[in-house]
Amino acid sequence: MTGKYDNLTQAQLIDLLEKRDRTKKLGLVWERDEIAADAAVDENFVACEIVPHLSDKAAPWGNMVIEGDNFDALRWLRMTHAGAVKCIYIDPPYNTGNKDWVYNDAYVDKEDRYRHSTWLEFLYRRLALARDLLAEDGVLLVSISDEQRAKLEMLLDEVLPGMRLGSFVWRTKDSSNDADRNLSSVHEHVLAYAKPSFSFLGYLLDDKKYRHDDHDGRGRYSLDPITKAHDYLDRENTYYPIQDPATEWWYPCSPDSVWRFATKDRVKPGQKLRSPTIEALIADRRIHFSAADFVIFDTMEDLLHAIENRTGPVDGNGRQLLRADLPDIEFWVSRKIGIGRPSKKSYWNEKDITIKPVSTYILGTKEPKHEDFYELVSEKQGKATGEIQEIFGRRAFPNPKPVSLLKSLVAVSARNDDIVLDFFAGSATTAQAVMQLNEEDGGERRFIMVSSTEETTDDPTKNLCRDITAERIRRLNASTDPKYDGLVAGFAYLRTKEIKFEDLDYDLTPADAWTALEALHSLPLTQHDPSQSWNVHETDATTLVLVDRFDPALIDWLKPRGRKNLFVYAWAPGQIVAALEGMQIDILPVRDTLVRKFQQ
Ligand SMILES: C[S@@+](CC[C@H](N)C(=O)[O-])C[C@H]1O[C@@H](n2cnc3c(N)ncnc32)[C@H](O)[C@@H]1O
Repeated sequence: MTGKYDNLTQAQLIDLLEKRDRTKKLGLVWERDEIAADAAVDENFVACEIVPHLSDKAAPWGNMVIEGDNFDALRWLRMTHAGAVKCIYIDPPYNTGNKDWVYNDAYVDKEDRYRHSTWLEFLYRRLALARDLLAEDGVLLVSISDEQRAKLEMLLDEVLPGMRLGSFVWRTKDSSNDADRNLSSVHEHVLAYAKPSFSFLGYLLDDKKYRHDDHDGRGRYSLDPITKAHDYLDRENTYYPIQDPATEWWYPCSPDSVWRFATKDRVKPGQKLRSPTIEALIADRRIHFSAADFVIFDTMEDLLHAIENRTGPVDGNGRQLLRADLPDIEFWVSRKIGIGRPSKKSYWNEKDITIKPVSTYILGTKEPKHEDFYELVSEKQGKATGEIQEIFGRRAFPNPKPVSLLKSLVAVSARNDDIVLDFFAGSATTAQAVMQLNEEDGGERRFIMVSSTEETTDDPTKNLCRDITAERIRRLNASTDPKYDGLVAGFAYLRTKEIKFEDLDYDLTPADAWTALEALHSLPLTQHDPSQSWNVHETDATTLVLVDRFDPALIDWLKPRGRKNLFVYAWAPGQIVAALEGMQIDILPVRDTLVRKFQQ
């Protein structure tokens, strides 16, 4: 019998062993070599051109919708936005095999042997680019189904080592019907990976309960109970009567829930206390007594009678505070007993934490609470389809995410003027969420939506980006429905185009360069004016100049300007440098700068 290695030479065997040694032992492995190369090969430069008639509202445009394969769009963005994006959200195709994903111009179907490997390789290449876009305090949030979660998480661990934060779970529907297994799968995940300086913004603590004020300079306070869940047998030392020094009325301790604070008479010598004694709190006017009314029982008989008839003093839940069997029952005869419970003043100004952390678990409940995350519970997938139907008058897009999910995620990840990127934008739910949040809090967050056309050889005229992604934002901008009042987001509609490096001299237009340079300098986009010898974009922070043709007037224009925040680009800097006659202004080469940034 011959084995499968018998015919190999020693050199071939060594080769095989070395290859095996190089192979990864732990982690996610997929068949990279077997997959047809991504149509977007790495050898080309990518430019983006503005399509004015598909853009919306007047320039300058703070937001972008980019039409094209996101691999190209991400390569362009890596040139213009490296380290500049605060929040990236993506909802990639889940690779169900049900026509949810076009790769190299065709849907990847269930029978494809390399379906999972292709999906992993596809995402790997895009995530590796996306990583470079994240700001130092940036976060990447990725939606995924339960079924694909494990694979994607391992992939993300590989692309973003050490950046894993955790995951959110949200409820997508009320019930599902896998009746055979009696399992109702009604949730999805959002995986969170972040740079070291990122932290969620959290929710402001609700300050509504801090509504009392003594006008003594200490500010607003809330009234908090001073009891804890131990009975008097368990915590003898904190079972004692409290007296209000102002009225001299006495307040009984509940035998079922004793005081949270010690009394100085029962503190043992050397005993360390975590909080002040009740006497110290009273002296500091931090205990609130109701001081509304009192009762008095002149004899033990009266008192016992009241206890028996349940007319004695009660706690907030109506439970009797005094009982015949209590050790201090005699104490309460002939004393003024205050009605109501003492409470402690907690001052808003003294709280060190006014932010509540974000919950990673979004639990289903029939009663949506006020906090954003809990609201999601009622905002399920079905509702998201309704949102699309409302805007388009039809179910224009399958399986969009609910706006509230995106709103919640963006609200806790991106501050007022941050950039939010979604490079699997689909129906642009993320853009609507950004628009709504900005409208609600006056923020100026900007978005970049990237979407493919989804054109295939079978459907060559399909353009999802133009007709759904951008169209949703256009419709929101134009809507007169009061529901969308105040939602406005002008955007530049960009289209990616690949240019071979050797053709850059001819095919990279001044307009392409202008767009890339504006983006690179964090300026809102404008249209390039070819009739001008040089184009200028000037803001308080930056002056960007692109010189297309040498013109002596440029030198006069430049002379009075300082170098500070001035960026002058030219196709052929030499002529300008000579004309500047030693003036200290840097003239940067357009092509080299862009290519260097593109390739870094
Ligand atoms: C699951 S959907 C995203 C839905 C989106 N979250 C929403 O709420 O509408 C994924 C989207 O990614 C797009 N897509 C898939 N491959 C892409 C690629 N290579 N480049 C750009 N977009 C792509 C698909 O066209 C699809 O619209």
